[in-house]
Amino acid sequence: MIQDVFIIGATGRVGAALINQIIKKGDIDNNFHVNPTRIMGLASSTHVVYAQKGLSEQQALDFTNKHHDGAKAYYDLNELFELANRKSDESSLAFVDVTSVNEAMTEFHKKVIGSSAHGIVTANKNPVALSDYETFQLLTRNPRRYGYRCSVMAGAEAVPFLRDLRDLNDSLKSIQGCFSGTFGYITSELEKGREFSAIVMGAYSKGYTEPHPKDDLSGIDVARKIVVLARSAGYNVGMNDVAIKPLVPNNYLEEGNVKIFLDKLKELDAEFKGRVAQAMKNGLALRYAATMDVSNKKPVIEVALREVPKQGQLGRIYGTMNKIIIISESYPNGYCIEAPGAGLEVTARNIRRDLLDLLPERKISF
Ligand SMILES: NC(=O)c1ccc[n+]([C@@H]2O[C@H](COP(=O)([O-])OP(=O)(O)OC[C@H]3O[C@@H](n4cnc5c(N)ncnc54)[C@H](OP(=O)(O)O)[C@@H]3O)[C@@H](O)[C@H]2O)c1
Repeated sequence: MIQDVFIIGATGRVGAALINQIIKKGDIDNNFHVNPTRIMGLASSTHVVYAQKGLSEQQALDFTNKHHDGAKAYYDLNELFELANRKSDESSLAFVDVTSVNEAMTEFHKKVIGSSAHGIVTANKNPVALSDYETFQLLTRNPRRYGYRCSVMAGAEAVPFLRDLRDLNDSLKSIQGCFSGTFGYITSELEKGREFSAIVMGAYSKGYTEPHPKDDLSGIDVARKIVVLARSAGYNVGMNDVAIKPLVPNNYLEEGNVKIFLDKLKELDAEFKGRVAQAMKNGLALRYAATMDVSNKKPVIEVALREVPKQGQLGRIYGTMNKIIIISESYPNGYCIEAPGAGLEVTARNIRRDLLDLLPERKISF
């Protein structure tokens, strides 16, 4: 069966990587692939291109490269929903959300799941992290309709593993993990003896950070990820349940000007140098980690810079790698998943894994 996809955010970095992969890997070709994907629609923030019989490779590539010939302007996500509903054949359709839009996209996800038979695969974590718990439940209730593994660890097994634990009634004890490539990079570079401000400046110049690095250093993105994981494990929690300790004091995060912000970080160099030296002296390493302890029914969730054993699970990861350690009844010594926390190619591949999971009749070729 052909799966039609409608990619929203097709001019972005992940969207472009996905479209290029679909074309390069022949996913679109039903002579070559047993579960072919047909690109039916593509949208940016302003334009949409759509064809009931599928877009040609050239049309898809032109759109992703922002050549809007043949595309039309649109003003509201509901217009994309209406377009998809014009579909006349029996193939299944899945929207792919590779934007970072919050409220409007959450409403769109609710509408697709609540009022149509279409599916959604999302790399955008906002609808599953920032919405209320009822919305999370509505969206994720049917795994054949909604895939969100790419919202954490670029689509590694964290989300499906925790969801399976809940389904198996394998009681969860704790989660701990490093879920940010940016923090991983910063703490690894600190261990090499580099100055904190120079590391953040370098990461910013190379495009590793958010456009304003305070959005990484606030810890909010890590908090959104632990909320998604906690909810996947069946806990009714939201952002207000997470105790977030930003990497830098709150008054630094109030600075809106990137250059002034980066300059001010020099004031923190000596403090970070001291913390790293102290940790190393004690055989410890600094890691910015998220933890969730459920030993007392009500989960205790924290996001902070911690000292961890250098040779322990978190102490042994370096650079931009992410890691999660899940302790449950069946895994008292911890189940570990280590994978890249970001990356366009790996995220795009994992979006396609989620798409395959949505197929009502997925086939395997022999
Ligand atoms: N980068 C990674 O490794 C990675 C890994 C996992 C998950 N993610 C997540 O994937 C998502 C996309 O990341 P990215 O780096 O590709 O972002 P990006 O390059 O900024 O692309 C964003 C895309 O969303 C579109 N868009 C913006 N506002 C919109 C709106 N109101 N309605 C419809 N489309 C809109 C943009 O269209 P215009 O071109 O018109 O602005 C663009 O196509 C984010 O949620 C990110 O957190 C990223």
